[in-house]
Amino acid sequence: MPETVHINNRDKILEILVSGCDERIFLSPETKANKYHLNPLNYKGLFNRGSCTCGTLTPFGLEVANNFLEQFNPANYQAVIDQQTIQLKELFDNSQYGFEIFYAPSGSDLMYLPLIIQSLVHDRKEIINIVSCPEELGSGSKVAAEGLYFSEWNQFGKNIPKGKEVSRNIKSKVFYLPAREETGHIANRGQAIRKIIADHPGQPIIGNLVFGSKSGIKDDLEIIDEFREGVMWVVDICQFRTDPLLIHSMLDKGVMLMVTGSKFYQAPPFCGALLVPTSWAQKLINKDASIIRGFENLFSKYDFPCQFENIRKQLSNEINIGLRMRWEIAIQEMKAYLSFPSDQSNALIRRWNQIVTGRLAQSDYFKLMPNMELTNDSIVSFMVLVDGKELRYFELKKLFDYLVLNEHYGLDGFNRIFIGQPVQYGEKSFIRLAIGSYSVRLALKDNHFSPHNDLQLIHIIERSVDILFK
Ligand SMILES: Cc1ncc(COP(=O)(O)O)c(C=O)c1O
Repeated sequence: MPETVHINNRDKILEILVSGCDERIFLSPETKANKYHLNPLNYKGLFNRGSCTCGTLTPFGLEVANNFLEQFNPANYQAVIDQQTIQLKELFDNSQYGFEIFYAPSGSDLMYLPLIIQSLVHDRKEIINIVSCPEELGSGSKVAAEGLYFSEWNQFGKNIPKGKEVSRNIKSKVFYLPAREETGHIANRGQAIRKIIADHPGQPIIGNLVFGSKSGIKDDLEIIDEFREGVMWVVDICQFRTDPLLIHSMLDKGVMLMVTGSKFYQAPPFCGALLVPTSWAQKLINKDASIIRGFENLFSKYDFPCQFENIRKQLSNEINIGLRMRWEIAIQEMKAYLSFPSDQSNALIRRWNQIVTGRLAQSDYFKLMPNMELTNDSIVSFMVLVDGKELRYFELKKLFDYLVLNEHYGLDGFNRIFIGQPVQYGEKSFIRLAIGSYSVRLALKDNHFSPHNDLQLIHIIERSVDILFK
């Protein structure tokens, strides 16, 4: 049981979990919490409806972390990665292991990998980088898409020049396609994508689509079938609220998939991976990889499988125990979650969605985001109203801070809450409630889902709005 984890192991686990990524995971010396007000070990009493971007350990996660720590031997680092890769491949196998796995310290860092791959295939040609829903990806995803450093610290605990170019040899011209229109309705990005492709014949193109953005928006993936040649398609399923069937179908079409273990699957932040179909992976073998010079500041040779010796040669030799521990927690959580039949888990998530959206819809304090039916069931996005007027981003941030930093009453078994951080689009903003795999499988295991805490959470938000804004 987690409670038996030896006290020294807890200290060591914490030290490891707050290493191996950028400054988003650092703990403030005063508060012992990260910028999202969380400490990975401090999950007791926390009712978590965030499960995007940042979370804590769960009791299960702590147990996995403890086992990992007891068995971990730095001398076997490559073997640890190989084992994790095999397990991930087995979980998301498209029947013949037709893909390779490249790792990254976070979902935002994954944005660099398609740039690396296209530049290896096309040498120094400028890359046309289409990025869908940029305001609903990670805070660093946009900057990374431009080939610039998005943080001040890298996975090796070293300072890097935020905002500066990572590699002189790689030029990325980015076209951003907003997620939503002024009205909040989900924009149709298909026409814009077709035009960008038509305007750049013969140039290397990356088409970054998203299936499950921060508010659960799903791009229309049919556009991939229109351009099977000439575009390197990458689908961001970083939230990982996706049916394995879709994963198989995308890999079969040669589409790369960005995933993380730290959102739906509730591993502590951060851990990313790119699933690279064999058809692309084969193009990289034996290519001269000196062109990627600069990326040794961001990636380790261990982030790439052994057969890509040409790429590994260019990169750092450092190991990242934090990343491996976070992936281990994610993988074991995935196994536990996927052992339940998907019709049961999907039905529970649907029911949660109906309870939450139904309660929000009854209240004068909230306005559900338009086109909810087009988004993922495990995330509910809504604006907060004061006397009929929508709160703006900085006001929602104040509300988020208040909700997360204070204790609350009336929850069954919990006295703190966590929700999704505010998301901005144009002048407007919204917040989100999300349910993650651990919460879903607890309810499935007990064969009982009580809506009490979700309803109370919404009541707490209403009361907090009164305290802060009335
Ligand atoms: C859809 C999507 N893509 C990418 C990211 C970036 O991932 P990370 O937070 O691991 O950097 C996020 C973060 O919330 C996301 O929601």
